[in-house]
Amino acid sequence: MNRSVIPYQKHAAVLLFCLSLIMACGPSDMEEEEAFDASRINQHMDEEVSFDERYRPQFHYTPKINWMNDPNGLVYHDGTFHLFHQYNPFGKQWGYMSWNHATSPDLVHWQHQPVAIPYGEEEEEAIYSGSAVVDHNNTSGFGDWTTAPIVAIYSSAYGGERPHQSQSLAYSTDGGETFQKYEGNPVLEFEDPDFRDPNVKWHDDIQKWIMVVALPLQYKVQFYSSDNLIDWEYLSDFGPAGAVSGIWECPDLFPLAVNGDPDNMKWVLHVDMNPGAIAGGSGSQFFVGDWDGQTFTADDSISEGEILWADYGTDFYAAISWNNVPEEDGRRLWLGWMNNWEYANEIPTDPWRSAMSIPRSVQLETIEDNIAVIQRPVEELQQLRGEAVQLNGRNLTEGNHLLTDDGISGKAYEVIVELEPVVSESVGLNVRESENQETVIGYDAVTGTVFVDRTQSGEDSFGEDFARRMDAPARLIDGKIKLHIFVDWSSVEVFINGGEQVITSRIFPDPGSTGVSLFADGGDASLAGLTFWPLESIWD
Ligand code: FRU
Repeated sequence: MNRSVIPYQKHAAVLLFCLSLIMACGPSDMEEEEAFDASRINQHMDEEVSFDERYRPQFHYTPKINWMNDPNGLVYHDGTFHLFHQYNPFGKQWGYMSWNHATSPDLVHWQHQPVAIPYGEEEEEAIYSGSAVVDHNNTSGFGDWTTAPIVAIYSSAYGGERPHQSQSLAYSTDGGETFQKYEGNPVLEFEDPDFRDPNVKWHDDIQKWIMVVALPLQYKVQFYSSDNLIDWEYLSDFGPAGAVSGIWECPDLFPLAVNGDPDNMKWVLHVDMNPGAIAGGSGSQFFVGDWDGQTFTADDSISEGEILWADYGTDFYAAISWNNVPEEDGRRLWLGWMNNWEYANEIPTDPWRSAMSIPRSVQLETIEDNIAVIQRPVEELQQLRGEAVQLNGRNLTEGNHLLTDDGISGKAYEVIVELEPVVSESVGLNVRESENQETVIGYDAVTGTVFVDRTQSGEDSFGEDFARRMDAPARLIDGKIKLHIFVDWSSVEVFINGGEQVITSRIFPDPGSTGVSLFADGGDASLAGLTFWPLESIWD
């Protein structure tokens, strides 16, 4: 059985039942050509791919070949950012879950590595999502005291006789090159068979490891603590709360200094939900609150029913943050899976499927007296910028204004634009445009939202409801809206007003759709300024 047959649009209860069954069953009914074959686990290492296949993202991480979902075990170690991820070594659909691996010196250029933790054939153990830590004090005893071990904490999803999920460990004593499963696995079990996605961090103040882990069907997360990563003590539950129309997955818990003030620390709990998220299908929500070493308490605004969506687009899921980023860097960095369970198994890419979002930093800032979660693209991406093209302020008469003659067009680029709606109903940019295609990114003055409309963006026949518009609430600042946009061969990411809201969306336009235009609808608007940079490919 594979996940592509799940009727995601159907009734939530049916979905939850199906999903738990599928997770329990594992990939036993996979198609013939996707059979487990230990000798082919690392076939991607020998595979030569061009990286210029139709729809291949040019500055987003993708595996060379085969299926990818959630980022896993994001950890910085000794000058290297590690990105592990859910991976099917044998095919382009979900199955035989393993942790594949890539490394980067700068969060931008990625080196593909061999599979780090493979599906266990004998025990029918699928390696589900989780996190990784650097065990500096060798609390686990997995190290030999010469180098700190990297310990991966993941969910074992056992098939066969034991169809349930529990938490397990694998460790590396060579800086993440190779991993060994801990012989005492699993290290944490629970009565609910749906129990997954452990996210572990070292809490210096209490000198303990804290795990947050999901009980998907109960719309809850649980917290556990440990001295050694092996023995875990239950602390508390959080949830149901916030958005609960779908199962809860992939939690993360981290502290942030409000407005950068270390005397004003708050805690952010991030939880994913599938389906029923703001743009349809799977999505991400935050809770901001306090953590006392035992319990997470969300701020009041949440109990009043306000949901803090991490992204208002369809394609940002399962994000987790990097562990062990040096203190002098100081950023909380993360990225998400740029896809949606509604159509993930069907997107029209070959010979790989799925991409990661660009890495973002996450901050807490006070905006209009409220604490807001702000996300910004990492500055490291700026090294990809080619020569800038700048447009000064000008009146935008109603209609479309193609920018090709200004030197603005392409398939992979970054734009920062400030627009004033004036008397228009909407104002914005059409990207990846041609005679019969466009992805519309604009501010809607009637609804007070920024939107991405992909109803004319290109190939969309693979998913019934793929063609849609997504909206994020957005304020005008001094009468203007500011958009920071990243366009790639099959995606757009829009950071609104310096990251107050984000919309991430996959699109599948023809390679020939390279036009960019400014538009004003229903009246005149005004351009306050625009800067455009072509972005070079990260793949040599
Ligand atoms: C989220 C998820 C996780 C699980 C993994 C399995 O996308 O469903 O909860 O660990 O995918 O691949």
